[in-house]
Amino acid sequence: MKILAIETSCDETAISIVEAKGGLTKPVFSVLTQLVSSQIELHREFGGVVPMLAKREHGKNLVPLLIEALNSTSKNPVKLADGLATGQARKLEKILEREPELRTAFFDQIVDIPAPKIDAIAVTSGPGLEPALWVGINFAQALSLLWDIPVVPTNHLEGHLIAPLLNKKVIKISFPAVGVIISGGHTELVLVKKWRDYQAIGHTRDDAVGEAFDKVARLLDLPYPGGPEISKLAEIGKKRDEIKLPRPMLHSGDFDFSFSGLKTAVLYLIKKLGDLSSEQKASIAKEFEDAAAEVVVAKTMSAAKKYGTKSIIVGGGVIANRAIREAFTKTVTNTDQKILLILPDQNLTGDNATMIAGAGYLKLTVKAKLPTIGKIKADGNLKLGN
Ligand code: KG4
Ligand code: ZN
Repeated sequence: MKILAIETSCDETAISIVEAKGGLTKPVFSVLTQLVSSQIELHREFGGVVPMLAKREHGKNLVPLLIEALNSTSKNPVKLADGLATGQARKLEKILEREPELRTAFFDQIVDIPAPKIDAIAVTSGPGLEPALWVGINFAQALSLLWDIPVVPTNHLEGHLIAPLLNKKVIKISFPAVGVIISGGHTELVLVKKWRDYQAIGHTRDDAVGEAFDKVARLLDLPYPGGPEISKLAEIGKKRDEIKLPRPMLHSGDFDFSFSGLKTAVLYLIKKLGDLSSEQKASIAKEFEDAAAEVVVAKTMSAAKKYGTKSIIVGGGVIANRAIREAFTKTVTNTDQKILLILPDQNLTGDNATMIAGAGYLKLTVKAKLPTIGKIKADGNLKLGN
């Protein structure tokens, strides 16, 4: 089945078209097109994502991205069809009444495009920034009304969890697997009993790991988003005696995390050291990255041991980090247990719509009841499994 997917939960506007088959036991995906329009430059001057600015940008970006996606997957450029019936135009007006930027472009450029050969539209309904989520949801609902294609509201976290499987040949996962989601908003350990059947086993008690990268970057005067910046700086960082950081909750005996203490430890270290040399800055970046990697990998491995799992699946923006990828790979290779480690391709680590198509497909295969158009809601705190 062919799925058009829309992602607008944070600061990336993304559209993908993905062919999916194999059902819940052996899902296989082939990515036909993946487009991501990043708003990072815009939010950088504010040091973080501004929700209303993100909403406005999504409203501007969605229509051109969709046209580009449709054109890139069809042999002929999209052709215009007949105009709208009045009743349909009124319903579309209602759905788009809170999306001024999107509404104009939709009526100017989308309404005359005939329905493409798409079986379902997957859209992120949460978790994320609600004003941003709504734009994608309303766009999906309007397209559904226009083209008579069902919409499947999709969980962003499930998207990060399935991302490592996308764009790969059939991967034989033996369940239960340990799923790890490390992103800007989440740090979660889950037991994946099978696809669509998840049990939360641990999470961060304060900051998410990506959030800690971003905050530590700010302490080191590095621009937003801090993850890639810390990563770059850490590459040249050397171990130094005066630069040591704790490994919070490493021996807590559960699967929870705490990264706010690690960030505070960086703050105190910087205060203690006074003016930092560029070498010291780089070693702080490295030591912070090592501390985060050590805790995440150690907790994952003990979860794998406790639950006797043979597969570990890691998703989320932070797994773009080279040191953390290496720490996972090295540890899994050196362990006595035979474990299959599945990491996403680099372009599937951060937010994208391909992963939303993947998670939407999983939901469609269990024949989940789909909501009526006009009734889909954004849920900023949506939990995995919903
Ligand atoms: O998954 P994602 O794109 O968005 C959320 O769902 O949150 O993750 C974004 C997070 C940001 O905190 C960013 O700093 C972090 O992922 N990140 C990284 C790297 N690239 C992105 N963290 C560490 N190292 C990286 N190379
Ligand atoms: Zn994300």
